[in-house]
Amino acid sequence: MADAVQYRLEEINRHNGRESCWIVIEGKVYDVTKYIDQHPGGDEAILDDAGTNATQDFIDVGHSSDAREILETLFIGYLHPDDEEKNNSTSWLRIAAYASVPVILPGTLMLAFVLLSRKK
Ligand code: HEM
Repeated sequence: MADAVQYRLEEINRHNGRESCWIVIEGKVYDVTKYIDQHPGGDEAILDDAGTNATQDFIDVGHSSDAREILETLFIGYLHPDDEEKNNSTSWLRIAAYASVPVILPGTLMLAFVLLSRKK
């Protein structure tokens, strides 16, 4: 990847429409402009993520290996390493949400148990 092009998030954010549409998936930048109208999941699915990090949405759909092959034909460069963290801010929210489950769930059960046993 020595001479691979690196793009700043600021520039990627500008390609956010039908006339020019870039997305980031797993640290790689793709120019998906020509693919929007061919996408089996509809143009809106891609346009909603235009100019941003679409990693989580792409994974959540459970895209096939065929989809990944198409993706590689649209590769134009890498996300600049300094923008990786900014780009991943939403995954921190996810981690926090998942991490809170083991605290909230037993807490609620314990509270319910205490309230029920006090009734007698
Ligand atoms: C350029 C990047 C993308 C490519 C190359 C791509 C490719 C594909 C392909 C080939 C399919 C057919 C099913 C499969 O083979 O997995 C598909 C379905 C789909 N894609 Fe994408 N996709 C891309 C980005 C996205 C994004 C960012 C979203 C955002 C949510 C999305 C949402 C969907 C949905 C909802 C379906 C339909 C799934 C179904 O009907 O079961 N795709 N995509």
